[in-house]
Amino acid sequence: MRVWINGELLSDPSAPAVRVTDHGLTVGDGVFEAIKVVDGRPFALTRHLERLARSARGLGLPHVDDDAVRRGVAAVLADQELPLGRIRITYTDGPSPLGSGRGDAAPTLIVVADSMKESPATTAVATVPWPRNERGALAGLKTTSYAENVIALARAQERGASEAIFANLAGDMCEGTGTNVFYVVDGELRTPTLASGCLAGITRALVLEWYGGAEIDEPIEVVDRASEVFLVSTTRDVQGVSRWDDRELPAPGPVTTKVAELWRQREPELLGL
Ligand SMILES: Cc1ncc(COP(=O)(O)O)c(C=O)c1O
Repeated sequence: MRVWINGELLSDPSAPAVRVTDHGLTVGDGVFEAIKVVDGRPFALTRHLERLARSARGLGLPHVDDDAVRRGVAAVLADQELPLGRIRITYTDGPSPLGSGRGDAAPTLIVVADSMKESPATTAVATVPWPRNERGALAGLKTTSYAENVIALARAQERGASEAIFANLAGDMCEGTGTNVFYVVDGELRTPTLASGCLAGITRALVLEWYGGAEIDEPIEVVDRASEVFLVSTTRDVQGVSRWDDRELPAPGPVTTKVAELWRQREPELLGL
């Protein structure tokens, strides 16, 4: 693992580096990005930087210095072999008072690079009883307040699944803890709209651009009629769903296979610093 924090590459990546009063640590007041790395090159870096800036704006954090982030990304990738990896960018309000109120210290900017294993082509998912709040202050923002996802994922794992799926307060299909959901009904590829409260996934947007699909909000039970389902994300690319709760599904289905193939063909277009 390589770690860069506030302009410095750490010589020991496991060394303590963040202050104990950092608002990201004490109250989850921060935003982040996870970026795929292929052969040492980041995927869709500009899109990730745009989303980081949007998340920071949504949380009311100071403007993100894109050039600093790019320097951090270049530093953690320099002079190493990384056939498949991920970069994690974390940007927090920095050292702050111990409560929810913010201080006036400079933000904390961290960039980490690590290797990553390829995801299996198919997986099982489990729905969880807790809703995504599409009307909440954090809806659609990629913040470090991810503990709800931690609880949901643990529940899914207890049920032999690798991802938890949320409905939102309206009972509509929303997203996974770290993935967006696509499904096929009556031959049409569908995914929830951004108004559902799901994250504006980079993979989701590219699948819609490159392959197409309908953005639609409908009750999560629509999945009972789906002929196939797949997840998309930075760490999974396009991953077929072979079981949804107790229902077995053909995976990867024909549409999933086409989208995954298209993904493999087009991915190189967006690799680079
Ligand atoms: C809650 C959530 N939804 C969806 C996604 C998928 O987004 P992306 O394709 O940009 O990785 C993520 C990514 O980590 C996520 O955290």
